[in-house]
Amino acid sequence: MEFQVITSGVKDVACDVLVVGAVRGQGGQVELPGTTATVDNLLNGLLHEISTIEEFKGNLGELAPIHTMGRLAARRVLLVGLGEQGKLTSQSFRRASAVAARQAQSTGARTLCLALNWSGSGIDAEEGAQAEVEGALLGTYSFRKYQHSEQQGSNGKGIAKVDLLSYDSQQAQLQEGIRRGVALAEAANFARDLVNEPPNVMTPTELANRAVAMAKRFGLEYQVLDRPQMEELGMGGLLAVSQGSAQPPKFIILRYQGDKSTKQGMALVGKGITFDTGGISLKPPERMDEMKGDMAGAAAVIGAMQAIATLKPPINVTALVPTTENMPGGNAYRPGDIVRIMNGKTIEIVNTDAEGRMILSDALSYAVREGLSPIIDVATLTGGIVVALGNVMTGLFCNNEQLCQEIIEAGKLAGEKYWPMPLDEEYAEQIKSDIADIKQTGGRPASSVTAAKILENFVASTQWAHLDIAGTFYVDSKKPYQEKGATGTATRTLANLALLLAHQQ
Ligand code: BES
Ligand code: MN
Ligand code: ZN
Repeated sequence: MEFQVITSGVKDVACDVLVVGAVRGQGGQVELPGTTATVDNLLNGLLHEISTIEEFKGNLGELAPIHTMGRLAARRVLLVGLGEQGKLTSQSFRRASAVAARQAQSTGARTLCLALNWSGSGIDAEEGAQAEVEGALLGTYSFRKYQHSEQQGSNGKGIAKVDLLSYDSQQAQLQEGIRRGVALAEAANFARDLVNEPPNVMTPTELANRAVAMAKRFGLEYQVLDRPQMEELGMGGLLAVSQGSAQPPKFIILRYQGDKSTKQGMALVGKGITFDTGGISLKPPERMDEMKGDMAGAAAVIGAMQAIATLKPPINVTALVPTTENMPGGNAYRPGDIVRIMNGKTIEIVNTDAEGRMILSDALSYAVREGLSPIIDVATLTGGIVVALGNVMTGLFCNNEQLCQEIIEAGKLAGEKYWPMPLDEEYAEQIKSDIADIKQTGGRPASSVTAAKILENFVASTQWAHLDIAGTFYVDSKKPYQEKGATGTATRTLANLALLLAHQQ
């Protein structure tokens, strides 16, 4: 999909679908701002007509397709609701663009013109363009490589070209917004591909291969540790979880050097369980297939590194991805085992299905040993976070208030929501062990919190945040703005965070 800024008048833009926006006014009436009013005039008030007879209310994502009867160079006009006036955010433009692009694609459009934003919208031109580009790319994403083309729906071709109509000579800002939007959305879609791949293909070895291929293409340093090196480093958690699997574990390291003046930098750690059966503490069969996505944290981190390598912020970023399957097997780790993590602490195993914290503990220890700060880990860690926050928000645990706020801010720029969760000392009671330093699980109450408390044992005093994406990595129903499957959540937030932290230094 190619994006460009065009400055011609709205009457003369030639494309299959011209997308214009509408908002819901204070009194509930539909308002046709900016270019939309011009298009309405060219169509003799047709848009106004549609919105007064209550066919179209201007709600976010609402669509009204209109034929232009030759009055405009565009073949069709697609009116899209942006939601309530005065409540517009970049997310309104991202969602509207996604819904419109999906609809246009499903009707066979090859070229799209977006004339959604206007000078009085309250959204900065660059931010708006970025959001619209992200929306178009994220919205039209699909994963159909294992289907014959006749089953793929639409015409299999998709939208080739998207023009953004410039308003108020904002070309330069729009251009910059396109650059960022493309980098971020392509990274998120790359992460979605990694998650959507079936688990017989996306093994730890394959995940490492894809990460390395990306690193070569985008100019990142890379290193993949294998079992002997893990043994050398004392990565007992990752080794224990991998014992039950026929697939060898990998520890993927990607490095981006944006600040040559220092060795220090931030660490992004991603949980890379390529399939989570639960191990000896086997999961029930219902929806176990979704556990191919238990490497969505790894995908987000690897995807974010692609965006960072493209946008080149002046900061150093290291990605650390422990990856393995969690399988039952003759050699699998068991409840009752005691496992020593890289930093020397021991964990009493009580449920082999709590494998994420085991592999993350080693990766966090590794980040601390390298002197990296802050450390942000991303993981599909607990079912408990799905109970608490559903699929709307990602659980955010931090030992530093400022880092917490920065992640929430980076999330807002991406249209991704993070909700702060507690790490109070009282919760540590639940993970006390009689025979090891800590117990692997704290039982049912506040299970996302006790999981985070375990991780906290391995970050020492380093600034650290933990993102539990178990509820947000996947959508199991078709949404108007995205297809069923991986969401790529946290990819864009992490890249935004790197940009944000780089510009504060
Ligand atoms: N990968 C799962 C968590 C998960 C659940 C991710 C649902 C996505 C959707 C994790 O490894 C797990 O099994 N967690 C257990 C831990 C428990 C055994 C202490 C959980 O949360 O139930
Ligand atoms: Mn598990
Ligand atoms: Zn898991």
